[in-house]
Amino acid sequence: MASIERVSVIGAGTMGAGIAQVFAHAGFAVKLIDVKHELVTKGIAGISASLDRLVKKEVITADQKKETVGRIRPDVGLDGTSGSDLVIEAINENEALKTSVLKQTAASAGEQAILASNTSSISITTLGAAIPRPERFIGMHFMNPVPVMKLVEVIRGLETDDATTRTTMELCGKLGKTAVEVNDYPGFVSNRILMPMINEAVYCLMEGVATKEAIDEVMKLGMAHPMGPLTLADLIGLDVCLNIMEVLHRDLGDSKYRPCPLLKKMVASGRLGRKSGRGFYDYAK
Ligand code: 3HC
Repeated sequence: MASIERVSVIGAGTMGAGIAQVFAHAGFAVKLIDVKHELVTKGIAGISASLDRLVKKEVITADQKKETVGRIRPDVGLDGTSGSDLVIEAINENEALKTSVLKQTAASAGEQAILASNTSSISITTLGAAIPRPERFIGMHFMNPVPVMKLVEVIRGLETDDATTRTTMELCGKLGKTAVEVNDYPGFVSNRILMPMINEAVYCLMEGVATKEAIDEVMKLGMAHPMGPLTLADLIGLDVCLNIMEVLHRDLGDSKYRPCPLLKKMVASGRLGRKSGRGFYDYAK
């Protein structure tokens, strides 16, 4: 299989921008694509701020920051994926939208390209079934914040072939990440384990087992988690957490995955975590 040099990332939100950043930092030519220029500009501003942290810490120089940003070309529309060796889709967790974007991308990117999705919960097999070459389609599940977290969960759909899997695993190494291969089941491994833990923390809060601070403190100090589950839920987004619990509940059909009513209520009220300014905790905007 040809080596990967030109990479397109579709979706310039937190995850897409983070993915574009790590590829550009590793020397790849990256196109960052979204539906509007303003969205791509906002994504690149986020990348610049993230690189500034690294410059301040003297992990990279100001010149290296400039080079990294210089490797990212902003673009609008899916035609921009033409000629890419790898296209990573990192748009909203909406199956119909992802399917539509992947179909258009498969047509414009060309037969040689590997297509990947950063989905956190949608079946790679199902998404792959909607495009012409499912053997060249794979899950690349990056973790938030992408520049910091070492893991890429690489998800094989039922039709994903060995060559695509091998190329993707090797590529993650070139990004300085550790790839872990998993098969396509609801929530994969990461969210199948993480989300029920977060959901259980919300049950503890709802049932008055302890305060939110106490719940987070127990998991931080007792289990050496870098942040407590409620703080982490605020970072991830409560709507994202609820969505993943609903996928686990529906697709595994086991009542142990039922989303906590308090989580549902908070999402219904618009308390989505950091991004909305309020979740389990308040965030100054
Ligand atoms: N860009 C660049 N660097 C960043 C960064 C960013 N966006 N965010 C944090 N950093 C760096 C900081 O500069 C700092 O670097 P240093 O170690 O060299 O000093 C380091 O990361 C730690 O950051 P801070 O000191 O600001 O804060 P913390 O020590 O509290 O760490 C954290 C922040 C890395 C987010 C840590 O709390 C953590 O690892 N939390 C857990 C995150 C996690 O579980 N992520 C997975 C979520 S699940 C997911 O993404 C899957 C999805 O499908 C839901």
